[in-house]
Amino acid sequence: MRLWDSATTRVNDAILAFTVGDDPERDLALLPYDCLASAAHADMLHGIGLLSDKDRSDLFGALGEAYQLARAGKLPIATEQEDGHTALEAFLTEKVGEAGRKIHTGRSRNDQVIAALRLYARDALLEIADASVALASVLIDRGREHAATLMPGYTHTRQAMPSTVGQLLFATGEGLIRDIDALILALGHANRSVLGSASGYGVPLPLDRQRVSDSLGHLELDLNSVFVQNSRGRFEGVVLFALHQISMTLSRLASDLILFSSEQFGFFELPVDLTTGSSIMPQKRNPDVLELVRAVPASLLGRYAEVTGLLQGLGAGYHRDLQRTKAPLMDGLEDSRNVLAVMQLAVERLGVNKEACAAALGDGIYQTDAVYAHVRGGEAFREAYRKVKESPQARIDHDELLRTRVHEGVPGTDQSEPLRRGLERIQEGLAPHRARPVSLGKA
Ligand code: ARG
Repeated sequence: MRLWDSATTRVNDAILAFTVGDDPERDLALLPYDCLASAAHADMLHGIGLLSDKDRSDLFGALGEAYQLARAGKLPIATEQEDGHTALEAFLTEKVGEAGRKIHTGRSRNDQVIAALRLYARDALLEIADASVALASVLIDRGREHAATLMPGYTHTRQAMPSTVGQLLFATGEGLIRDIDALILALGHANRSVLGSASGYGVPLPLDRQRVSDSLGHLELDLNSVFVQNSRGRFEGVVLFALHQISMTLSRLASDLILFSSEQFGFFELPVDLTTGSSIMPQKRNPDVLELVRAVPASLLGRYAEVTGLLQGLGAGYHRDLQRTKAPLMDGLEDSRNVLAVMQLAVERLGVNKEACAAALGDGIYQTDAVYAHVRGGEAFREAYRKVKESPQARIDHDELLRTRVHEGVPGTDQSEPLRRGLERIQEGLAPHRARPVSLGKA
């Protein structure tokens, strides 16, 4: 039964199914967070005298039970109920009667859904941030291991100047650190309280919104009740932007690993169990995993376009259009978790063929170093350039290539220390978001 139905206003079944969409499945993931938010809300209602001690403890008991069931995926949502919020209210009312009928005091499904989405996203973003830190960390370790493993550096996919395997890995680690900055920005949006804004216009009751915010471990309130509704879609956009950045960093590395592990290059080797076979060509071991990683930014960009595109033309406040921001957000978070997990394996277990890397340096790649040997001897750069252009010079000893590269961030240097400091700063940025909300029952 819908909360808003009556004997004279029964909705057509096809309209109900269409408007409900995939909410009953999607809301399963939000239900545990809806329980946490509902507990904070109930506690506040008790604090301002709208729930009795018994109401509060009845609700906390029933919410604890609902939380456990929801986490185990055992709190079903019927199409008839439309969404998880109605399913939860029905559950509470069945368990504790009167107190269940009071839980919706001072709220609307419009703020209830955002409250749950923010808590859900906060957890997911922290998980993704931790996975990104772990991946950055292994990139730094492996970068250090191969700081002096020479390989060609490319521009335009043509040999340019000497580089190292470490340089490629450090570059990806540094990219991830910048990406985690974007995740922290998204966490800042997730970690703000919305309850009490109700349908977008508050309620004529002295609600204590700050108390709810504090119970949920949020950093601040989103103040204006209409803005809370306007934040929907925009918030999802900020999250998907950050996820898209991560995916592009990983896509770029995946693309290089695909190329450089091919037969013609042979610089890298993916362990057999990370590759997949062919149904027709017996010899094949394919880097499908990396190809799928390479493809993920397109999906995330699509989802970003979807959530921000939905907002076009919308006036202030809630519109049902906003329901369709849920799937792209959830799928984007899921894709990101998966991509980080497989790249962690790929980087940890990547084989490096040092001999093949060094042997690939062609005659041309030494020429800029030859120019700089003259420059170090006091010649003007342009003179030295012309001289080497007219008569290309001999290859340079590899130890010398490494010895002469000394400035910050250049191939051959160990960049692990400054990058590790970057990761420490990341942890400081994440710390305020790790506060746990009121916990219900045994987690
Ligand atoms: N499923 C809805 C959504 O995601 C929840 C809010 C419903 N509010 C409403 N007035 N129908 O937007």
